[in-house]
Amino acid sequence: MSQHVRGVVARAKGDPVRVETIVVPDPGPGEAVVKVQACGVCHTDLHYREGGINDDFPFLLGHEAAGVVEQVGPGVTDVQPGDFVVLNWRAVCGHCRACRRGRPQYCFDTHNARQKMTLTDGTELTPALGIGAFAEKTLVAAGQCTKVDPAASPAAAGLLGCGVMAGIGAAINTGGVGRGDSVAVIGCGGVGDAAVLGARLAGAAKVIAVDIDDRKLETARTLGATHSVNSSDTDPVERIRALTGGFGADVVIEAVGRPETYRQAFYARDLAGTVVLVGVPTPRMKLELPLLDVFGRGGALKSSWYGDCLPSRDFPMLVDLYLQGRLDLDAFVSETITLDEVEDAFARMHKGDVLRSVVIL
Ligand SMILES: NC(=O)c1ccc[n+]([C@@H]2O[C@H](COP(=O)([O-])OP(=O)(O)OC[C@H]3O[C@@H](n4cnc5c(N)ncnc54)[C@H](O)[C@@H]3O)[C@@H](O)[C@H]2O)c1
Ligand SMILES: [Zn+2]
Ligand SMILES: [Zn+2]
Repeated sequence: MSQHVRGVVARAKGDPVRVETIVVPDPGPGEAVVKVQACGVCHTDLHYREGGINDDFPFLLGHEAAGVVEQVGPGVTDVQPGDFVVLNWRAVCGHCRACRRGRPQYCFDTHNARQKMTLTDGTELTPALGIGAFAEKTLVAAGQCTKVDPAASPAAAGLLGCGVMAGIGAAINTGGVGRGDSVAVIGCGGVGDAAVLGARLAGAAKVIAVDIDDRKLETARTLGATHSVNSSDTDPVERIRALTGGFGADVVIEAVGRPETYRQAFYARDLAGTVVLVGVPTPRMKLELPLLDVFGRGGALKSSWYGDCLPSRDFPMLVDLYLQGRLDLDAFVSETITLDEVEDAFARMHKGDVLRSVVIL
C-alpha cells in the first residue's frame, strides 16, 4: 500500500516549483516513512531547481526537516512510529574505510531509502539530498531519522538538519574553537550566523562578524557577535587584525564561498591560526596565494562539510541546549509559510530578506 500526498516538485531547470501529488511507498527493509512537520528552505534547494547540482529532474525538494515517524520497515530498531525526529543526510554506514577508521563523519556510503517516491504517472523523483521533505510525508532510510527531545518546536529543530548544523559544526567541530579564542566569521547568512552561535557556545571571547549587508551584521550582533565589520567600506583584514591586538583571529570561518573572501580569511587569521571554508564555491573559481605565505603563516586550512557533524551525537545535544535557552534556534526562523509558498520564499532568500523561511505542514 502506498500513499498519495502533496509535495513540492522541480520538473525542469529554472522552472518555478509546483505542488504536485506524489506517491510514497510503504517502507521496505531499513526504511521509514516520516510525517513531516516543518522544513526550512535552504540555498541548496534552489541550486537543485537551477540544475546546479545534477540533472536528475524531477526533484522532490526540501531537506531541512523535523517530523514524526509514521511507519518503519522490517528490521528497523533504532526508531519507531511516534518518535520525533530531525532528518539528516549523513546516515553513516559503519563499514566503509572512513567508518572503520573511526571517522564516520567522512563516511563514503551514507544511506538513503532504496525505494523511489514517484509522481502519479510512475515517474521516479530524486529527493533533495536523499530526503525530499517539502512534502506531507517522505520515505527515508531509518538511519536518516535522528531522535531528539519532542519538546522542541519542529521549525527550530528541523534547522539542525542542514545549514544551521553546517555553521555550528564549522566552529565547534571543524574549527575546534575553544574558550578564549578570537573568531571571525565572513558572510553572515544562515550558515555564518550559526557559526557565530557555535563560536559563542564554544567559549570564544571575541566573535567578529563580517558581511557586506548591514542588516545581516545587525542580526549577527543580536546572536552574539561582539564586533561587526562591513567589508564593502572597510578592509576586513586590517579591521580584524586591529580588533585582535594586531595579530588576527585564531579561527576564521569563510561562509560565502568565493576566492576573495577566502583570501580575506587566509590573511585575517593569526600565525598558526585556522581557516575553515564552509561556503561552497562554483566549479570555475580559482584561488591564487603565494606559497611562501601558505608555508610561513602555518596553521590549518580546512573545509567543513555539514559541520563535520555526526547526527546521532550532535542533534540531540544541540536540541537540549536549545531547550535550555542556550542556543537561539528560533532566531533563524524569519517566517513560516505553506507548501504553496516555496517559490516566493526562493525569491526572498535570493534578495537576502530572510535567514530561513520554514514550511509548516
Ligand atoms: N559546507 C556545508 O556543508 C554547507 C551547508 C549548507 C550551506 N553551505 C554554503 O554556505 C554558504 C552560505 O550559505 P547561507 O545559507 O548562509 O547563504 P546566505 O545567502 O544566507 O548568506 C551569505 C551571506 O554572505 C554575504 N556575502 C555575500 N558576498 C559577500 C562578500 N563578498 N563578503 C562578505 N559577505 C558576503 C551575504 O550578504 C549573506 O549575508 C553557501 O555557499 C552555501 O552553499 C555549506
Ligand atoms: Zn561509512
Ligand atoms: Zn541545505
